[in-house]
Amino acid sequence: YNHVYGKGKWKDFDPKDLLLTYNALKVLEARYLLKDPNTLRYIETPQMMFRRVAKYLASVELKYGKSESEVKALEEKFYEIMSNLRFLPNTPTLMNSGTRLGILSACFVIPVRDSMTTPEGDGIYDALRAMALVHQQGGGTGFDFSELRPKGDVVASTAGVASGPVSFMKIFDVSTDVVKQGGKRRGANMGVMHVWHAEIEDFINSKSGKLKDVQLQNFNISVGVYDYFMEKVERGEEVPLITPRKTRIPGTDHDYYINKARNYMSEEWVQEEILNELEEKGGAVWLDESKIITVDEALAIAEKEGAIIRWINARSLFEEIVKSAWDSGDPGLLFIDEINRRHPVWYLGKINATNPCGEEPLLPWESCNLGSINLEKFVKETENGKYIDWDGLAETIKYAVRLLDNVIDANKYPLKQIEQATKNTRKVGLGVMGLARMLIRLGIPYDSVDAIYLSYQVAKFIYYHAFKTSIELAKEKGSFPAYDPLRYHDIWESARPFEYLLEVTKVEGKPSEYVRKLTAIVDKLDFSELKAERIKYGLRNSTVVSVAPTGTISIIAGTSSSIEPLFALAFIRNVAVGKFMEIDPLFLEYLRKYELDNPEVVKKVAETGTVGENMFMPATIRKLFRTAHEVPPEFHLLHQAAWQQWNDSGTSKTINLRSEEPPETVERVYLMAWKLGVKGITVYRDKSKSQQVIYFGIKK
Ligand code: CDP
Repeated sequence: YNHVYGKGKWKDFDPKDLLLTYNALKVLEARYLLKDPNTLRYIETPQMMFRRVAKYLASVELKYGKSESEVKALEEKFYEIMSNLRFLPNTPTLMNSGTRLGILSACFVIPVRDSMTTPEGDGIYDALRAMALVHQQGGGTGFDFSELRPKGDVVASTAGVASGPVSFMKIFDVSTDVVKQGGKRRGANMGVMHVWHAEIEDFINSKSGKLKDVQLQNFNISVGVYDYFMEKVERGEEVPLITPRKTRIPGTDHDYYINKARNYMSEEWVQEEILNELEEKGGAVWLDESKIITVDEALAIAEKEGAIIRWINARSLFEEIVKSAWDSGDPGLLFIDEINRRHPVWYLGKINATNPCGEEPLLPWESCNLGSINLEKFVKETENGKYIDWDGLAETIKYAVRLLDNVIDANKYPLKQIEQATKNTRKVGLGVMGLARMLIRLGIPYDSVDAIYLSYQVAKFIYYHAFKTSIELAKEKGSFPAYDPLRYHDIWESARPFEYLLEVTKVEGKPSEYVRKLTAIVDKLDFSELKAERIKYGLRNSTVVSVAPTGTISIIAGTSSSIEPLFALAFIRNVAVGKFMEIDPLFLEYLRKYELDNPEVVKKVAETGTVGENMFMPATIRKLFRTAHEVPPEFHLLHQAAWQQWNDSGTSKTINLRSEEPPETVERVYLMAWKLGVKGITVYRDKSKSQQVIYFGIKK
């Protein structure tokens, strides 16, 4: 550019902007770069945006006694990892840092109690208001609607009948339509209902059949299931459907028993305290401060209280879920036991819901800010072969976690409950993008045992270093307030071994020498030392990792999204001025290698977006460039499960299926998911929605 414009002429222009792809610039221009509200002229370039974010988030550290020059040095580090596209924080942080809108987090869970409004601000219409405030500034919200009494139930105050959770969800949905996020994007929601709820069948079908593409379009929905329920599914036994209505008779245990009965679960996650008693009573039990009762005892009480509406065969209920998910993609499942069993700060209460895409199981009122590392950037090629730049990765993780921790202090919270809950646990979610491209660059097909092994190892490395950073931060700035060194659950103690994942999915094979050597450094990590350090110095964040979909930030980084395979290699995009052919740049690089980069070939690929079936393509290309619908469901699941083992929050993933897959495939995937220890599961069968929005590389 000096050559074109003359040296020093373009002071505001930074060559780093040339790292950005055309699509990245389009997205940044449309939604991220700040404009003057009066003239609507742009007042920043992409580099100025990164600078704004870096400066704002580094400045927080002045409060912690850092000097001006130390803060400046941090700002440089933050700027560097973002401008080199090695790490990007989630959209609200990019958009809102240093502006009047102050929400910097993407994920929120808002409680909904069975009352219009409550003094604590968690009634139905209080939740609606909270949702609007969060959406207005770019956050996504999740709700567990299970506490609302089912339709037709009595309402004492008006002597009327209740309209039920699904009808209330419709109000949340319409409100979401009306309130656009920061005027820039539509809000997203997760609606959860637990499987014991008397209205569960209406919920399961609320987005399928004739309601598909019609109702609750701003919601992903998930059924909260328990181990207890899944075991009943396997055995084909009956489960009760319960009304959560509380009659609130003071001085009785009524509420308590109803509450416990509806969570007919094996609460083994409260391990430490109740293990012995669990043994004695056998099977699933409930716990209160003072005593433990068996499932049968609790159900007997619920029956006596009139809380059990009817019994249903668990297997047929499960089949209804499967049929609906096969039809429309909704509902997914949330594995509530697994979520709570592996929740590091389990002693703060039970988690019942997640944010919209499932990567953040959160307690009521908690929020979490995310950020993702671009894995593709850490593949290095030399004459001696390819390797992973582990040192560079560790260094990026260190500053990324620090930046995310600062977001908690820089955030302007829309409600005091959100501020309190968030600052109590200081959850942050460092995730990844560009896995598929990292694999291609290393020459490893996404649907191979080597790829799963690589996922497992990289996830472990990231977790280790993110956790280590959080200990370092605690040394400097103190632990999160709710930290309890003895009760804190170290999730690596419950990580399943790699071999277990293959066993469950019946995938055969062993990781090759090549991938073992690539990732050998990971085998040397010492987690017991990490635990000793945590106990000695404390921990800054109750969770550190989370795998988000990276729908937009992966476009900005110019890489594949999250841990997903490539979606399409080439496609035709219709825009106002005509038709354009777009081709994946990495794919184009490979075509060039084989001298296949001519328009005829590209046009042919664009017709289907894939090359798996294209016999004229070299085998290497066909294997490396398998797209989302060509990858067998087992491998989708395996990647999700591999990342979940080294993740203290959730892993967002869509199990893409071919359109001709039968409902049995969904059933198999859902059952396998439970055994693999993922926290939730979503499938999407190609063309199952009548108006499928082809958002290549962008998920719902
Ligand atoms: O790439 P980006 O940072 O924009 O977001 P993502 O990784 O695709 O999504 C992360 C989270 O942002 C989601 O799980 C939602 O909680 C939230 N989100 C939202 O509220 N509204 C959207 N339209 C997209 C995402």
